[in-house]
Amino acid sequence: MSHLPAPDPDALAHSERLRALIQEQIFAHGGAIPFSRFMELCLYAPGLGYYSAGATKFGDSGDFVTAPELGPLFAACIADSVAPVLRELGPQADFIELGGGSGAFAEVALKKLLALDALPARYAILEPSADLRERQRERLREHLNPLLFDLVEWLDTPPQQAWNGVLFANEVIDALPTPRFAIRDGEVFEEHVALDGEGRFQRVDRPADALLAAAVRHVERQLEAPFAEGYRSELLPQLPYWLQAVIGGLQNGALLFIDYGYARGEYYQPQRSDGTLRAFRRHQLVADVYAHPGLQDLTASVDFTALAEAGTHAGFDFAGYCTQASFLIGNGLQQNLAAAEAKAHDEAARYKLRQEAKRLTLPGEMGERFQVMGFAREIEFAHAFVAGDLSWRL
Ligand SMILES: C[S@@+](CC[C@H](N)C(=O)[O-])C[C@H]1O[C@@H](n2cnc3c(N)ncnc32)[C@H](O)[C@@H]1O
Repeated sequence: MSHLPAPDPDALAHSERLRALIQEQIFAHGGAIPFSRFMELCLYAPGLGYYSAGATKFGDSGDFVTAPELGPLFAACIADSVAPVLRELGPQADFIELGGGSGAFAEVALKKLLALDALPARYAILEPSADLRERQRERLREHLNPLLFDLVEWLDTPPQQAWNGVLFANEVIDALPTPRFAIRDGEVFEEHVALDGEGRFQRVDRPADALLAAAVRHVERQLEAPFAEGYRSELLPQLPYWLQAVIGGLQNGALLFIDYGYARGEYYQPQRSDGTLRAFRRHQLVADVYAHPGLQDLTASVDFTALAEAGTHAGFDFAGYCTQASFLIGNGLQQNLAAAEAKAHDEAARYKLRQEAKRLTLPGEMGERFQVMGFAREIEFAHAFVAGDLSWRL
């Protein structure tokens, strides 16, 4: 929480521009905007938001390290897990990646799918950030041979026409702007962001609309206990609509989501009474989610029970739910590590690969905090969930 260097003057000026934009929106909306709108502006305001503007974000010099940034093992295992699906669907199958980050995942996945003789007809990236798109394009142009690079395209919207294939998203749902709810006098309120007398952001609660209130009551019914007075957390009532939208016209194929989160009973534990919302800058947790808008990542954990409901409501069969460690180990981690070590030039490179395998799988690292959920339609995908079934928790 401490020892964070102050942002440099350019970064501060950038953040002040975003702050002014958010202040304008608050005025324009009668003095308060829902927290989800605040988060959306902080992350995605064109040219200013955290993901829309040109800060480093990913990797050791950025704000967080995602699994594909650690090295090649994560993407190689995911490619192993979906290769049978792509092969069964045949040469017209597509692979769609949501939120491609730095392009690290696509680079390794495409090379591995080629090696597995399971290349998709096209590898499409649905990326809302223009800045990240550009970075992905540069990286993939530089690191892929032209045959593979030609398979890559960027989508502005989810594919509306019928398609078959695989939809994959790592750490995307945690970045969706989330509403926050609070229980006051037994009623459901929605957290908003207003301005105090000095123009600083401040939290205010307003009565929740029908959609959010119904979603909170649905969770209470499922947990068989009302939330306590003052309880506050996140909930994405629009997750089923979001999922339907990103799937687009997918007919036959598989969906694969990886993120940090919990099954519902753990997510909404009574002691987690201020939710899972977190702000990060330079690998450090920042206590103030209002600090330096645009310069820090805002993220909330995923309710995997809600994801299971959304996937099945969208007409897919549930294929499995397990920890990231179980999934990677069940989909060739050992073999991918051995193959990468065999190709490594020196002991330092081999050491780095072994460290990567540990960070991906150890319980205190990403192994258990990150979880994997899959769905399928008209295709077999349960083969990918061979170990460590957690579906009983949902
Ligand atoms: C935490 S980053 C993860 C990036 C990458 N998947 C990785 O693992 O390194 C979140 C990504 O999701 C993207 N994103 C946010 N909302 C999205 C949406 N509605 N559809 C697709 N991508 C989205 C962001 O722009 C960003 O690329």
